[in-house]
Amino acid sequence: MTSSLHGATLIVLLLLAGQAGAAENDEDVRQFAKMPAESIALMRADMRAHTLAIAEVSGLLAEGDFNAAAVAADAGLGFGAMGQMRGNPNAPGRHMPAPMHRMGIAMHDAANSWSEAIRSGDARRIFAGYQAVVSACASCHMAYRVR
Ligand code: HEC
Repeated sequence: MTSSLHGATLIVLLLLAGQAGAAENDEDVRQFAKMPAESIALMRADMRAHTLAIAEVSGLLAEGDFNAAAVAADAGLGFGAMGQMRGNPNAPGRHMPAPMHRMGIAMHDAANSWSEAIRSGDARRIFAGYQAVVSACASCHMAYRVR
C-alpha cells in the first residue's frame, strides 16, 4: 500500500513539474474556478491558516511532542478543520467545482492519515504522511485558480 502510494505520488509530482515548466513560459494552465468574492476571501484565510498549521505541526514534531503534533495536524488540516462553515452559504466548498472539492477533501483525508502516522511515532510513516499532505496542497494549486 505504502509503496504504491509513493509511486502514485511521484507520478503526480512529475506531472506537476511539467505544468510548472509550462507556467515558466507564461502559460497559466490552471483551470479558473468562478467563486463568489466572499467565498474566495474565506478560502484564502483558510489557506493561510493551513500554512500556520503545517508550521505548528513541524515545530511540535521537532520537539518530539508527537501527541500534540497529531492533535494539531487533525485540528488544523484534517477533518477537524473541515466543515466549520457548514450552513454558511459562502462556505468555499459549496462553490468549488466538484473535482476541486474532492481534492480539498482528499487533502483533509491525507492530513488525518498524517495525524495517525504521527501518533504511531514511526518516522518513515510520518515523512510519508507529510509528503501526502503537501502533495495534496500542490496538486490543487497547480490545477485551479480563483482569480
Ligand atoms: C482544493 C484545492 C486546494 C487545496 C487542497 C489547497 N489549496 Fe491553497 N489555494 C487554492 C486556491 C484555488 C488558491 C487561490 C489561487 C488564486 O489566487 O487564484 C489557494 C491559495 C493558497 C494560499 C494563498 C492565500 C492568499 O492569501 O492568497 C496559500 C498560502 C495556500 N493556498 C496554502 C495551502 C496549503 C498549505 C495547502 C495544503 C495544506 C493548500 N493551500 C491546499 C486551492 C487549494
